[in-house]
Amino acid sequence: MGNVRILAPEVISKIAAGEVVERPASVVKELMENSLDAEASSIEVSLKDAGKKEIIIKDNGTGIEQDDLEKIFLRHTTSKISSIEDLFAIKSLGFRGEALYSIAAISDVVLTSKTKSEDSAYEIHLRGGDKINFRPSAFKEHGTEIRINELFFNTPARRKFLKSNSAEIQQVLNIFIPYTLLYPDKRFLLSHQDKNLIDLKSTLSHKERIAEALHLESKYILESSQDLPQRNIRIKLFAGDINISRARRDLQYLFVNNRPVFNKNISFHLNQCFRLIMPDNTFGFFVVLIDMPPEDIDVNIHPTKKEIKMKDEQELCFILKQFCEQTLMQKGSTKESIFPLPPNSIQNTIKPARGSNEIQESLEHIFDNAKTFFTRGNIASPQKAQTAVTENKYYLPSDIKFPGQETTLEKKLAAANYIGQFSNKYLLFESERSLLVVDQHAAAERIGYETIIRQISKNSVEVQRLLSPVLIKLTAQELIAYEELQNILDKFGFENNQWDQETIAIHTHPRIFSDVERAVRNIFSGEVIDKNNIDALARRACRASIKAGDIVNADAANYHKKQLLNCVDPFTCPHGRPIIVEVKEEFLDKQFLRT
Ligand SMILES: Nc1ncnc2c1ncn2[C@@H]1O[C@H](COP(=O)(O)OP(=O)(O)OP(=O)(O)O)[C@@H](O)[C@H]1O
Ligand SMILES: [Mg+2]
Repeated sequence: MGNVRILAPEVISKIAAGEVVERPASVVKELMENSLDAEASSIEVSLKDAGKKEIIIKDNGTGIEQDDLEKIFLRHTTSKISSIEDLFAIKSLGFRGEALYSIAAISDVVLTSKTKSEDSAYEIHLRGGDKINFRPSAFKEHGTEIRINELFFNTPARRKFLKSNSAEIQQVLNIFIPYTLLYPDKRFLLSHQDKNLIDLKSTLSHKERIAEALHLESKYILESSQDLPQRNIRIKLFAGDINISRARRDLQYLFVNNRPVFNKNISFHLNQCFRLIMPDNTFGFFVVLIDMPPEDIDVNIHPTKKEIKMKDEQELCFILKQFCEQTLMQKGSTKESIFPLPPNSIQNTIKPARGSNEIQESLEHIFDNAKTFFTRGNIASPQKAQTAVTENKYYLPSDIKFPGQETTLEKKLAAANYIGQFSNKYLLFESERSLLVVDQHAAAERIGYETIIRQISKNSVEVQRLLSPVLIKLTAQELIAYEELQNILDKFGFENNQWDQETIAIHTHPRIFSDVERAVRNIFSGEVIDKNNIDALARRACRASIKAGDIVNADAANYHKKQLLNCVDPFTCPHGRPIIVEVKEEFLDKQFLRT
């Protein structure tokens, strides 16, 4: 007898479920796709405990016939494709016949449905994939309602892996919002603990839907479309002008044949266009909708169907890039200052930050460690450096070169003369026998980061009070982060309050970050960070420091140099990139064949 055996059905179902359902957001994705495939014009999702406790989704689509209600929970059962040819010309979002089977295997599901032609509705109840009940229901309208309770009740390892409610809700929003952008004519509702997070009525204007769903000003959204009849391709583009910028690619959406997808190649080329109007480290907004013959795309390369391949992709990227550039250059407006402030509207104050002892202690720890590590003129030995790095995983970059090299470089920089700026990106300093090139953005990040951490740890953040508040309209994801981090913003020197449902008002800001909106958005961008993790929050905020592309004069450059030399670690930015590169005279001599 050999060692190989066929796995038991309950093990197979859990493995399959693991591939399809990773977290509540995956369930929301699968169920929304089913509702859309059923041509629903209204989709309502409601969650308890970010979906960990309960997910309910209700649509007014075609409904499911009584005879099919048991079948749809079996593996590889679908009404969407039937032959191998269909697989290469997929028009629906679903096609594998996997989703309901997988979801039912790891939760408690009650599905109620009624078709237009049938007189009554039916309800089926399954738990861990086993049928518990099947009976008529009082459901009146045609459509389907699915209630998912106790997700991962029988796979505790998966359950443990779930993150905080805020983080899971953000994931749900990342799934939910793209579909709302695709179908402006459909109504979408998403609620959590009975509070509406997204509530969108049907509209005929695509631009209006995009503006509403993403909380953007529609006057900053440029709209264009293009046909490529020879390839049977139609492209629709919504691009943000210079007034919509973010620290990450948070506001970038690509759809191919009504499917939200990711394609590295297209993303890269479109982001290149925004370099024409925005500095590095800043990302623009776009929604691109491409319609093309289904046989020219392959969605079947990834189980989540998210990544796609396209025929003649490179050529398409080139066309898209040109199209986007034209739109931005021909239709874009100039940067608008929403709250122009008179020069005397700013007062300087020292704000004693309110702080919990816990945060205080963690900051002191960070600083003490860093100080002992880098005490000037007394650089630690390599072994000591190693210990300090492991002890303090937040603060110290792990790739610092020791020993001696940095001290020399530090001395060189201290004695060097500023000779100019290159490409509005690098500050050039001339030292005795070398050229020191300082990345102005990385240097400013380091200075900003150390300053704010130092000020918070001393409970004295230097702030500027604004006579008129800066109002920032937040996306649904950012609002979730705001709920979590509202108090911590105060600690950073951003005195704030909620202005209306989508907007927050900032009344003061730390002096070190003058671009208030950018700093605050940076703190909210990406996954929600724990509010006690001041170090990570400071790293995010300091991305708002002086940017590549900003013109720096000699006085400012020398001031920067001085501040940089005061830093505990002047050689790497808080995200680990180098700040100074030394070009030695010998190197140049070699290049010119002088040696
Ligand atoms: N909300 C709904 N309205 C109408 N029919 C539905 C709905 N949800 C599921 N169905 C039916 O149940 C079938 C099985 O759904 P399931 O999501 O498991 O598979 P699929 O959508 O066909 O493929 P995939 O696994 O790729 O999602 C569908 O093919 C469809 O016929
Ligand atoms: Mg499906």
